[in-house]
Amino acid sequence: MSKTIHSPDSRQIAEQYGIDLDSVTPLPHEHRLEKLSRVLSQTDVPFPIDPSVADDYFKLAQSGTPFGIGSLTEKTVNLAGFTNQQHYDALTLQDHLSWACLVAEQQQQKQEYACREYLEGEQKFEIRGTTIPDYYILNARIYQQTGWQLATVSEIIPAHVFFHCHSQRFFPVTTFMRPLGTDYLEEPDIGHDIAGHVATFTIPQVAQVMNNHGVANDIIHLEKQAKLQQATTPEERKKIEDDATELLLYAGRLYWFTVEFGLVLQDGQLKSFGAGILSSPGETRSSVDSQEPNRIIIDPADDKDLLRLATTDYLISEFQKTYFVLKDFNSLTSLTPERIVNVVETARRLPHHTWREIVPGDQVFNVGRAMTGPNEKYLQLLAGEPKDECLQRAAIRNLKMYQSGLEIRTDREQTFVDAMVPIPEWVQTEFNNRTKNGEFHDFPTR
Ligand SMILES: [Fe+2]
Repeated sequence: MSKTIHSPDSRQIAEQYGIDLDSVTPLPHEHRLEKLSRVLSQTDVPFPIDPSVADDYFKLAQSGTPFGIGSLTEKTVNLAGFTNQQHYDALTLQDHLSWACLVAEQQQQKQEYACREYLEGEQKFEIRGTTIPDYYILNARIYQQTGWQLATVSEIIPAHVFFHCHSQRFFPVTTFMRPLGTDYLEEPDIGHDIAGHVATFTIPQVAQVMNNHGVANDIIHLEKQAKLQQATTPEERKKIEDDATELLLYAGRLYWFTVEFGLVLQDGQLKSFGAGILSSPGETRSSVDSQEPNRIIIDPADDKDLLRLATTDYLISEFQKTYFVLKDFNSLTSLTPERIVNVVETARRLPHHTWREIVPGDQVFNVGRAMTGPNEKYLQLLAGEPKDECLQRAAIRNLKMYQSGLEIRTDREQTFVDAMVPIPEWVQTEFNNRTKNGEFHDFPTR
């Protein structure tokens, strides 16, 4: 049962989005069970569900137990204290209406700007309706198509828990729906996790690269644990923790610029597939149409391009200033866990770019109005007028690195540094002088 009746405001908003308010009526439990039963019995799917497993799963849903972690295989996942459940009948009509409005607005944009595989995926998972999906039903559909399942989490979880779920082919989803009329949110919600991400699972290369990110995360985490066992002082332990956090941050950039904010060329046209883009109707349009951002073509199979992604800083608080464009999804298959771990370890020893820059060697699709030259971040920093926090932290990070001397280990790293636009000598000198006086000491550099 829903908690509220539709208010006059709701009627007005529904009209604005062209939604028939009577369609924003969640199915009662028994009707959802009937639907679940039909879904579970499907056999013409890539991952059919064993009848005895389906039976247990159905009984769990029937008992009224709220959905927590998908139980269609023997695998499960440790959510380390971030477990949550979807209490479907506790969702309000406002929640469902917010979902319906978001989906309706997204559809106008997605039909034009999303890649075709994504649009097909939305149909398979039935996530274009006017009510929030029941996770029991959705989880079964996702499993049948992809072998992945859902794990319900409290709103924001640490990166290592998020990616550990990926390594086990569980996708963490929230149970909170953004307030009615909100276009872009920094934190994930049902609109982002379900309406944004779920359809990307039908792109096998994207699903595989998500899993590979999870495995890479586990490798970094296990190496950290092994080192911690050998550590003898609190300082050593802190350094090991900090190093692992830094590696995960850079691995997160590869995920961000592909799974979350990736574009792809299809029939010569730019299309979106990133879930961060496609969960925001505004960014869906602007990622493809706006004159503001840069767009750069990349081939993740090329080490140079992969390093470009791992060394590019960004902010989450605004629409992206640079989008990276794949020529096709097959190039994503090169992103193995080993290559991810290798590239982020390399990125740690190198100067970084900001999200606004075009750098030498980039295969530029277009230069956006947001573009700044590589050295502008230093000039803005010293003038006390950095355009944004990303420019400030990348500038300080790089100048500090040059101050203490770069630790170049391989030809690949040397080539990367040689390709960078040289920093004027006076910039480094002034930075060195000012840091002697304690300036920039407490500024975050990542
Ligand atoms: Fe996401």
